Amino acid sequence: MKLRVLRTAPEPETIPPMPEAFGADKLPKLVDKQGRRYTYLRFSVTDRCDLRCVYCMPAGGEDDHASRPELLSFEEAARLVTVFAASGIRRVRFTGGEPLVRRDFLRLIELVRRGTAIEELVMTTNATRLAELARPLAKAGLGGVNISLDTLDAERFTRLTRGGDLRRVLAGVHAAIDAGLEVKLNTVLVRGETDHEAGRLVDFAWSVGATPRFIELMPLGAGSDLPASAKVSAEEVASMLGDRIARVPPAKRHADSVPRGPARYLAAADGSPNRVGFITPLSHEFCDTCNRVRVTARGDLRACLASRRAISLRDLMRAGASDRELAWALNWTLSTKADGHFFHDASVDEHQHVGMSLIGG
Ligand code: GTP
Ligand code: 5AD
Ligand code: SF4
Repeated sequence: MKLRVLRTAPEPETIPPMPEAFGADKLPKLVDKQGRRYTYLRFSVTDRCDLRCVYCMPAGGEDDHASRPELLSFEEAARLVTVFAASGIRRVRFTGGEPLVRRDFLRLIELVRRGTAIEELVMTTNATRLAELARPLAKAGLGGVNISLDTLDAERFTRLTRGGDLRRVLAGVHAAIDAGLEVKLNTVLVRGETDHEAGRLVDFAWSVGATPRFIELMPLGAGSDLPASAKVSAEEVASMLGDRIARVPPAKRHADSVPRGPARYLAAADGSPNRVGFITPLSHEFCDTCNRVRVTARGDLRACLASRRAISLRDLMRAGASDRELAWALNWTLSTKADGHFFHDASVDEHQHVGMSLIGG
């Protein structure tokens, strides 16, 4: 069959025909022209969210939500994960929007856990619905959650999320720890709003057995509407944390052998196993070690968070593509992936970057 790429910018493209020998014995691993190997899939299950964080979503929400038939079904999602797993993906992170607003999300975890050889299934969540769901999710095979938490002040939380209830999120954090999930707390600091809370957030995370992490604000979607002065670099955060942290990486842990995201960690100064993570897309690019590939809730394959090329795996599947043809589409897309992002390129209209919640971060 002809593999058409249905949504790409600036020009529609067609995937070249699949070579006859492609994957005849075994599907090849995903590698790009720079030699980067892809082992980590970020899979968005919905573009909707029950919060409206100022740096992520416009106040009225994104105006381009997928309709029900446009979304991948759980069966389609699970099939894709099987093809990714056969192509070398070892870890899957479910993202959103907010994954837990997708009805029956637990069933997807069960389907994927049962049907594939993925080593680790994890999720990024705002935790508003985690208090009830942490235990069943852990039981279904989820290994960990990364929870967004930008402030410990209830009023500020409501303002920055435009309506969220901090108590529910904290209940979600505790439920996740109690359920035995590995918990990381993701903070995007905004200068003048939350930068004075860095130390408090670290102390809180460590006190509950979670790992605190600080993410530099990226100019994506609503994040591009905030002034440059709102950004707080990882270097600044590290100095705010003062004598809490040692300027050395922590000791390696067993869990570090599975593919990881771009965070770099520093050890706690007190010699405990605690650590603090930093995700530095702006101050220290990490594209040369990228191991991640993304699928959106509509089933678009995105080789990079910043790429504008989106290949509809959903349309390929619905047109009858075989697993080999899907794998070929993955291989071709990654083999032609750009080297890095363009967050620093002033000639790129930042508003054209698709919002985080539509891609899954
Ligand atoms: P771990 O594997 O647990 O370290 O997770 P992660 O950091 O990869 O995932 P998470 O969903 O918690 O993402 C934290 C932040 O890192 C989010 O803002 C993501 O958008 C960002 N992020 C993750 N991968 C990439 C990437 O490849 N490029 C860029 N620019 N940002 C990324
Ligand atoms: N820049 C950096 N991080 C962001 N997130 C959402 N939008 C942005 C942005 N513009 C973070 C959320 C969440 C993670 C998936 O992405 O806080 O923790
Ligand atoms: Fe990978 Fe793109 Fe992120 Fe760079 S910006 S690390 S290439 S996804």
